This record gives sequence, C-alpha cells and structure tokens, in this order.
Amino acid sequence: MSNLRIDLDRLMGRIQRLGQVGALEGGGVCRLALTEEDKAGRDLVVGWMKELGLEVSVDRIGNVIGVRAGEVEGPPVTTGSHIDTVATGGLYDGNLGVLAGLEVIETLNEAGVTTRHPLAVGFFTNEEGARFAPDMMGSGVHQGALSLEACLATEGIDGTTVGNDLVRIGYAGETPVGEFCARAFIELHVEQGPVLEEEGTEIGAVTGVQGISWTEYSISGVSNHAGTTPMRLRHDAGYVAAAIATFARRIARDMGGDQVATSGVIELEPNLVNVIARRAKVTVDLRNTDESLLQEAEQRMAARVLELAGEEGVEITARSLARFQPVDFDAGMVDLVAETAAGLGHSVRRMPSGAGHDAQMFAPNCPAAMIFVPSKDGISHNVREYTAPQEIAAGANVLLRVMLSAASS
Ligand code: GLV
Ligand code: MN
Ligand code: MN
Repeated sequence: MSNLRIDLDRLMGRIQRLGQVGALEGGGVCRLALTEEDKAGRDLVVGWMKELGLEVSVDRIGNVIGVRAGEVEGPPVTTGSHIDTVATGGLYDGNLGVLAGLEVIETLNEAGVTTRHPLAVGFFTNEEGARFAPDMMGSGVHQGALSLEACLATEGIDGTTVGNDLVRIGYAGETPVGEFCARAFIELHVEQGPVLEEEGTEIGAVTGVQGISWTEYSISGVSNHAGTTPMRLRHDAGYVAAAIATFARRIARDMGGDQVATSGVIELEPNLVNVIARRAKVTVDLRNTDESLLQEAEQRMAARVLELAGEEGVEITARSLARFQPVDFDAGMVDLVAETAAGLGHSVRRMPSGAGHDAQMFAPNCPAAMIFVPSKDGISHNVREYTAPQEIAAGANVLLRVMLSAASS
C-alpha cells in the first residue's frame, strides 16, 4: 500500500474538464456561487461522485458530500473544498481540493483498498463569498458556525437570495445541517501566495488561517456640479469612499506585521465625470493572524470613518459582511501532513494561510489541517492562477497518505 500513488493524468483531466464549465476567454473560469455555471459544475462533479460509488447527499445549504464506506461505521475522514469561483477565477482554487479528493477515492477503488474508517469528499456552497457574503457560507452552516436561516435569506450582489437560488438550480437538499461529524478534515489547496514558490518548497503544512473582517460602508452625500460647488460646501460621497480605501491601506502600513487591508469594491452614483457623487459604497477587507491586532485595525477604521462623516457632512452606515476569528489547526494533523510530505521526499514548510478556507470551519469540531502546493508567481483570484502538474501530484499524494493514515488509526 505504501507504493500507492494517484493517477496524475486522470486528476488533470478532471481539472481541465471542470475548468471548461464557465470558462473565460484567455483561460480561467467564472462560476459564481449558485449561478447556472455553478449548477453545471455541480452536476458534473456529482456525476463523478456517483460513478466512483460514493453515497451522495445534498444538505439544506446545498453542500454535497459523497461517502465511501469503511470496515467500521462512524464519522468519515473527510476531504473537500469548493467549486464556486470568483468572477475572475482560476482552475485550481477550491477545485483542486475537491477533484484530488475524488482522485484519492478512485485510486483506492482501483487498488481494492477498504479503509478502517469511512472516507468522504465534499464541496461546500459559496466558499468565495463573491456573490453572497460571508465567504465559507456552506461549510460555516455545515459546522454550526453560521445560521442556516440567515444564510438562506442572504441577498447577493444581484438581488436574489441564497435560498431562492438553491431551489432554482436544484440544490436545496434535504439533509439536515449541523449533524455531520467528521473524524478528521484535511483539505488540499493551492497556496494562492508567493511563499512556497519563492523558497522552492513543494508542500505547505498549514498551521492555521488568519482572521477575516469584511465591512461594507454605504455613504450618502449630496450631488452637485463639479465646477460650481465651492470645496467648503461639498458633501462628496466619492471622496469619502476614496478616503476610506486609502485609510485602510494606511492601517496596514502603520501596523505592519501580518496586517493586510483591501478595498475591493468602490461604487459611485451617479458615476459621472462632472458630478459630485451623491452615493458611494466601499468595502474593506482586514485580515490578521492575531485577533487582538485585527480588532485594533477594525477600531482604527471605525474611528476614522466617524471622523470622515463629520468632516465631510455625509452619512455613513457600516454593515459587517463577514467576521471570522483566526483559527489554529490541530497540531497532530499538521504534524501528520508535515511528516507525510517529508516521508514522500518533499520539502515542507509550516505556514499560516492568508486566504479563508472551508477547513477552518471544521477546525473547532474535529482535528483539521490543510496541505498547500505552490502557486506560480503567487497569483490567484486571477485567470493566470497556475500550479504545475508535478506539484499537484505531490499534493494529491500527500492527501492520499494523510487520509489513509487518519482512516486507519
Ligand atoms: C475567500 O476564500 C477569501 O479568502 O477571501
Ligand atoms: Mn479557495
Ligand atoms: Mn478563492
């Protein structure tokens, strides 16, 4: 059994095939959560799960889990990730973890291996949070961190709700949420950052995930003529949105360390060259590996927003879109990943994750960890996202061995 290896061509074939669903010109893919493209991707993966003999269930938030029986009953050693993407997504973010999970199952099927404990492969609804906030929605509901009812009622960027869209695409399942218990959770994912590639390291043993804070600010000012309105009489929503965005950058610069800050959305109304904006929307994404520092960043932002409202005479309302504390993965599982990778002859680095992941939702409820493989030029959430096939094979073989270990003990 120690010679068992995944079939790289078969895994790459599935990655390419799924990448054709919602394919963008010039590479990459757009499969925003609960769109027609997401439905087509889901149908494809569910078809593969059934071909592999998995017992497939769909839960009330649309998470899909396929279970392979073991010698004994009980909680499965679970892997998986997501197949939704951002609008400018690559082929690997999320998809790799799901399809590598299927590859592990097919490898074991072919070799006639039955594990002691059951295995499961899942994909979780709306991990990206790009169409409906928060991110990690499906795994969050699955593991009891988010309310099913609140998530079903969540309105997205185009005005529909999660609940309605689940019904529309046929993935409003009946399996209750909050009952699934994993014996362990292990997720393979691309790093989405530059560290492994820069060092020439093959495998990341992920120690945890940094905290995430998303806030949307809606600003109401007064529209007026750009040429005739004296500066002292302006209530410029556009200026305030820009000031919030630049202040977010300043927080990260001043705090240093692991603090990062991003304004990914700025929308202005009426968005015309010679009209002072009457309304603006700006989002701020703050992340830190340290909860108290993340709170400090949030407080600095909130204080400046209050000042800006007074200075410019505009109204600003803040809405939290996502808030997750930093997560530490299980030390034993992280060791298992690192030792397994080293045992297969790979260079390994222990590292935190900068991106949010489904595994973090499992971490409070079962031993959880992640395996990272390098991302070329550290690029992700971009159609240029790329990980070389040999690097994928390394990650998938580590996944195979970690699942075998966790399912045998
Ligand atoms: C989601 O995966 C994020 O990290 O933004
Ligand atoms: Mn991802
Ligand atoms: Mn992503």
